[in-house]
Amino acid sequence: MPKPSARSAAAPASPIRRLYPLAVEAKRRGKKVYHLNIGQPDIPTPDAFLRGVRESDVKVLAYAPSPGIPEAIDALHRYYAEWGLNVAREEILITIGGSEAITFALTVTCDPGDEVLVPEPFYPNYQGYARLTNVEIVPVTTSREDGFHLPPRQDIEALIGPRTKAILFSHPGNPTGVVYTPAELETLVDIAARHDLFIISDEVYREFVYEGTHRSILSYPEAGDRIILVDSISKRLSACGARVGAFISHNRDVMAAAFKCATIRLSAPTFEQLGLVAFMADPDHRRVVTDMIREYRRRRDVLCQGLAAIPGVTFRKPEGAFYIMIGLPVADAEAFVRWMLTDYPGQETVMLAPGAGFYRTEGLGLDEARGAYVLQVDDLRRACAALAEGLELFAKAAAEEAMVGRG
Ligand SMILES: Cc1ncc(COP(=O)(O)O)c(C=O)c1O
Repeated sequence: MPKPSARSAAAPASPIRRLYPLAVEAKRRGKKVYHLNIGQPDIPTPDAFLRGVRESDVKVLAYAPSPGIPEAIDALHRYYAEWGLNVAREEILITIGGSEAITFALTVTCDPGDEVLVPEPFYPNYQGYARLTNVEIVPVTTSREDGFHLPPRQDIEALIGPRTKAILFSHPGNPTGVVYTPAELETLVDIAARHDLFIISDEVYREFVYEGTHRSILSYPEAGDRIILVDSISKRLSACGARVGAFISHNRDVMAAAFKCATIRLSAPTFEQLGLVAFMADPDHRRVVTDMIREYRRRRDVLCQGLAAIPGVTFRKPEGAFYIMIGLPVADAEAFVRWMLTDYPGQETVMLAPGAGFYRTEGLGLDEARGAYVLQVDDLRRACAALAEGLELFAKAAAEEAMVGRG
């Protein structure tokens, strides 16, 4: 029998979805499961976007132009201008979600066996894209104690070797919620210049900032041709299913290579690009997003308040995105996450994403789990109550097991 390739086998299963069957089984047993494990926003997709899809006058659902529908490129061009970011129309390529933009970025910057520095913990699909493109991720380890901010410059530079081609990071960060300071970004820009590297800045959570201000990598003109910006409407328009993202670069050669990739996959979704056009034509579009961010800030605050009241739980208040890395008073967070779905006796339980899957370095994140605050505040409060009781019962069960073992 022919076998699937080694590289497909090496692509990791998503730690966010891996335990999902246990949640399905818990629900079958009549439990309510609060899903804090996945970044699927529950906020309605803006009306203007949906109206644009419904009212589009499409007679033949043809392939869209490979770089994107011109009106959708115009809409994104206007969006960046509103953010004070200087991007020309021909520097924008519409992709099938931010996911495709990341795959294009790795494809056009790296050859098989090349290396990319990525601050860990990181969005686990980076490892998946890296496996599929035969790129090696070299982790730059950050810690909860430091709020997942970057280590000193020399620690980052020590990881750079002859095959290093780029630095990739998500900013604001998934799963950390970190928002890098201008000083950190300047250091990255400087390191990239000194070692001749690309900078791939994944800014799909650009608007989701609660402390300080977010500076886009595009606001560093000195990084010019080194920059690739990854963007997406999935989160900011609560439109994950739209599959519309963007790949942006000032570098003509990089854009030519990315356009080639785009022609190979033909086109991005038509209706959803039309939805984006309609959304940006709505004079109220900024307010829609601002209201959404206000709601996420409230959720962050409620979740942090709930977690702070649980003995042994540690965390740093996230500065952006809608995730939090939680330190749990357990040796094996994955065992605890499983136990909450299989053995926790309460009627309502919580699903988190075990932390180890967000690290490349073996042995890190074992006592951490990622939470996504994508639920209503009342549900977040109830999720915290279940988590608190679960941790207490789990510790008791472990203590009893140890007694039996000793006896
Ligand atoms: C940091 C980060 N980048 C990219 C993506 C992919 O987004 P998209 O839905 O646009 O493919 C996600 C999705 O969760 C993400 O968290």
